[in-house]
Amino acid sequence: MNIPVITIDGPSGAGKGTVSRAVAKLLGWNYLDSGSIYRSLAIAVLQAGIALDDVPAIVRVAEAMRLAFECGESLLVRLNGVDITSQLASETTGNAASIVAAYPEVRAVLLQKQKDFRQAPGLVADGRDMGSVVFPEAEFKVYLTASAEERANRRYKQLIEKGIDANLSQITREIEERDRRDSERATAPLTVPEGATTIDSSSLSIQQVIDAVINLVR
Ligand code: DC
Repeated sequence: MNIPVITIDGPSGAGKGTVSRAVAKLLGWNYLDSGSIYRSLAIAVLQAGIALDDVPAIVRVAEAMRLAFECGESLLVRLNGVDITSQLASETTGNAASIVAAYPEVRAVLLQKQKDFRQAPGLVADGRDMGSVVFPEAEFKVYLTASAEERANRRYKQLIEKGIDANLSQITREIEERDRRDSERATAPLTVPEGATTIDSSSLSIQQVIDAVINLVR
């Protein structure tokens, strides 16, 4: 049976997570937050005191890590049995994730873990290379973007709401740096996948973006 997939790719802070979760819930489909896999790996690597350029050691951690996702009201992630949810969102984790994600050997290890999320009745997959590399045959592909300024503003608000200390100009710099690293890397760079519909969310509400994605599928 062909299990349908909607891929939602785009730069950090474009609203992919919120939109993907809402679309998955509306359709009753499964949800893959691929960024959280790279983020979990980054946490495991940092916890083990491994340098972010020690590729063989990072690959070993990626091979050995056991991840469990629980999709309730919000996503809960366990790394080797330990709840790491509260560490996932931090900028330190995001930046380290972007660094480990640039290594092709690391991406190769994590590829199958991501494909395994394709379970009936369907999957909404959010990331950077969902439509280009992991699910190139997906029937519905979206590229969700927004200006760097708008994304930095949203990220800042999110962090403050979560009680995490944040600095807007630093976040803007980090978003631009992350965009550059995610787009310029040689393996599976952030790109508009072939056949994708681009949605610029800079001046759209979350509901408008959700409606646009649902319209695409219906
Ligand atoms: O979507 P996110 O911010 O949680 O992702 C964190 C980092 O993980 C991002 O900067 C790049 C990497 N990533 C990736 O390389 N490929 C994906 N499919 C998802 C995330």
